[in-house]
Amino acid sequence: SDLCAQGKAQGQRVFIRADLNVPQNEAGAITEDTRIRASVPCIRMALDAGAAVMVTSHLGRPTEGVLTPEDSLAPVAERLTELLGRPVPLVRDWTDGVQVEPGQVVLLENCRCNKGEKKNDEVLSRKLAALCDIYVNDAFGTAHRAEATTYGIAQFAPIASAGPLLAAELDALQKALAQPKRPLVAIVAGSKVSTKLTILQALASKVDQLIVGGGIANTFMLAQGLPIGKSLAEPDLVDQAKAVIAAMKQRGAEVPIPTDVVTAKEFKADAPAAVKKSADVAPDDLILDIGPQTAELLASQLKAAGTIVWNGPVGVFEMASFENGTKTIAKAIAGSSAFSIAGGGDTLAAIAKYGIEKDVGYISTGGGAFLEVLEGKTLPAFEILAKRSAEA
Ligand code: 3PG
Repeated sequence: SDLCAQGKAQGQRVFIRADLNVPQNEAGAITEDTRIRASVPCIRMALDAGAAVMVTSHLGRPTEGVLTPEDSLAPVAERLTELLGRPVPLVRDWTDGVQVEPGQVVLLENCRCNKGEKKNDEVLSRKLAALCDIYVNDAFGTAHRAEATTYGIAQFAPIASAGPLLAAELDALQKALAQPKRPLVAIVAGSKVSTKLTILQALASKVDQLIVGGGIANTFMLAQGLPIGKSLAEPDLVDQAKAVIAAMKQRGAEVPIPTDVVTAKEFKADAPAAVKKSADVAPDDLILDIGPQTAELLASQLKAAGTIVWNGPVGVFEMASFENGTKTIAKAIAGSSAFSIAGGGDTLAAIAKYGIEKDVGYISTGGGAFLEVLEGKTLPAFEILAKRSAEA
């Protein structure tokens, strides 16, 4: 983006790697286009600077070397055409050369259909680099993958830089995790401790409060010796949960364990719901949400926070009887003056359901990439761009 501002992109061939991997329904229609909309500022900037613009992305996880109709970026090209208000032709075979003039934009078909993309093949990467004068990575959602269009090309392109979305995501994450205004409160919820254990461990040394929810909270309740009935949990990970609680305690920080919960006998939207003290959960109960008392306590802590990191709904918010916890937390985040950052598919669905998009400080376009940053990992896309800019 600096290059565009400095007029250096005028007449240049700019290759933008975006993450346009959006959900589609069975008929192939795009059901959610946030990532496409988020790619527009970078593309516009390059066009306005007078560059010849090539944009690519992966879509799904296709078999390399074949392009089935389901793998095609055709619906994305259509949506981009609408958003940009100008034609965005889709180029099918493009690794050997791309026809595009300054002031024009083309969309290069699903880059994961190219042989060698996923394994970051050097021959492919050099070929891609030869297509452009300037490579721009604006694909935060794919920043945790070292593939030919996210990593290899950045090694070999004449100039490699970060696009505005990638830069904004990094800024927001740094604001939340590197120099947070305290108290720093993280909400890590979801069905399994196992998929988020490294995040819980990494955050245990950083945050002032670690709010757990969903199946993750059930495992933490087990670790505290509380009954959870037949709720989803991972008894094998109770020791790890205890270690997280101990690490937090040692720093004077806390993991608030739900004191009340919403239970049902069946995992069904119309199953009768009952609010219970955590200690009173029966052997045939399923915990499907945090209770109202717990939700209110967490809401007051969120309102007093300096920074909030949110990943995961705390209950089965898709079902009206079990949405109160997630709804209360969403509203508390919206009403808090804290800087908040949220990421992950389910979290975004909750944000949309409660209409708090404008009240969250930053909504990440990353799924897996967002989680890996929370784990404290340096993402390959950032690593190679930092290396290139250090060399420049
Ligand atoms: C995502 O949707 O999280 C990104 O687009 C990355 O997709 P991937 O997990 O297939 O690499």
